[in-house]
Amino acid sequence: MSTSTASVFLVLLLHTSISANDSSDILYDIPPFIRVYTNGTIQRFIGTRVAPPLTDPITRVQSKDIVIHPTVNVTARLYLPGNAIPGKKTPLLVYFHGGAFFTESAASPPYHRHLNSVVARANVVAVSVNYRLAPENPLPICYEDSWLALKWVFSHFKGYGKEPWINKYVDFRHVHVGGDSAGANIAHNMAIRAGSDHETGGVLLDGLFLNCPHFWGEKRIGNEDTSNIPIKNMMESIWVHAYPNSRGLDDPLLNPASDPNLSRLGCRKVLVYVAGNDILRGRGWYYKQALRKSGWNGIVKVVQVQGEEHDFGVRFPDTPNALQMLQNFAAFLQLD
Ligand SMILES: *[C@@H]1O[C@H](CO)[C@@H](O)[C@H](O)[C@H]1NC(C)=O
Ligand SMILES: *[C@@H]1O[C@H](CO)[C@@H](O)[C@H](O)[C@H]1NC(C)=O
Ligand SMILES: *[C@@H]1O[C@H](CO)[C@@H](O)[C@H](O)[C@H]1NC(C)=O
Ligand SMILES: *[C@@H]1O[C@H](CO)[C@@H](O)[C@H](O)[C@H]1NC(C)=O
Repeated sequence: MSTSTASVFLVLLLHTSISANDSSDILYDIPPFIRVYTNGTIQRFIGTRVAPPLTDPITRVQSKDIVIHPTVNVTARLYLPGNAIPGKKTPLLVYFHGGAFFTESAASPPYHRHLNSVVARANVVAVSVNYRLAPENPLPICYEDSWLALKWVFSHFKGYGKEPWINKYVDFRHVHVGGDSAGANIAHNMAIRAGSDHETGGVLLDGLFLNCPHFWGEKRIGNEDTSNIPIKNMMESIWVHAYPNSRGLDDPLLNPASDPNLSRLGCRKVLVYVAGNDILRGRGWYYKQALRKSGWNGIVKVVQVQGEEHDFGVRFPDTPNALQMLQNFAAFLQLD
């Protein structure tokens, strides 16, 4: 890390701990996500509620919670469409929830609802992964957990895995990864790893779905200069506190454009959604540009939805724009 980068980080640390709250027992505060006290107490303001895994009365989608790795406690919520027939194979979606790396879970009501809707609409099996959260488990732990989960999914390739829903119903020619916000960042990094790593057991990913991806970088691009400063500071504060040992804002995990391995992205097609009012929207377009420049040999499409806020598809699921996104997401998962 350069001296100037280090001092920017220091200023950010001071900024978040002092201006957000004057009380000296607060180490840092990242509203609306978390507050961390000097005594180690961590307060989460969102994403702590839990919806049980039941058969959804409206969609008939079934779900259940399973343990992928008991010692590191990587778990997942699995989804099966209401009309699933054993032997009739369907595509698979491995999903990573958002929440700034600090909050939320697969069981959180907005995510449970989102996955029920996607599974019903697209007629796919889904695995919604619970990776461990920062700051108790600083990055890169979330990537390691998510890769563990993906490898576990791949271990069902020949039909002899631990989980009958995956053995019986999944067509391994159509495995997709996706996520929103920080989860989209994770999904992208899983596709990078799937393209470079030999541990995929022969599985090739088909599609990558990125909903309002949480990417960033040292240099301001697109709409970032003119957009509001507190959100810009928040983006940097999230990364600094979620990943204290990172290589900075141009870490390839946060800025795919600085990843020398970008051309190895291990999937055939990518769909990116960005929201018109989101400071992150420029990063979605930049991602497409970087992929093209890298020489990656796949199809990438960006859809910008005017008048919408960050993560509208998960946060406001009943709006016409969210329903439209759901329909396009489903089509992306179904089509060859
Ligand atoms: C700072 O945090 C304390 C403890 O939660 C709270 O009572 C207080 O209202 C906050 N102050 C400001 C200025 O946000
Ligand atoms: C830590 O400090 C916060 C804020 O003062 C307080 O609410 C909490 O109970 C403290 N926790 C411990 C373990 O002392
Ligand atoms: C394990 O993970 C689940 C789901 O994320 C969580 O509810 C539970 O508290 C975790 N258990 C431990 C021992 O950390
Ligand atoms: C690029 O991929 C190689 C081989 O998988 C890996 O060793 C290296 O760390 C990667 N580079 C970055 C910057 O991630």
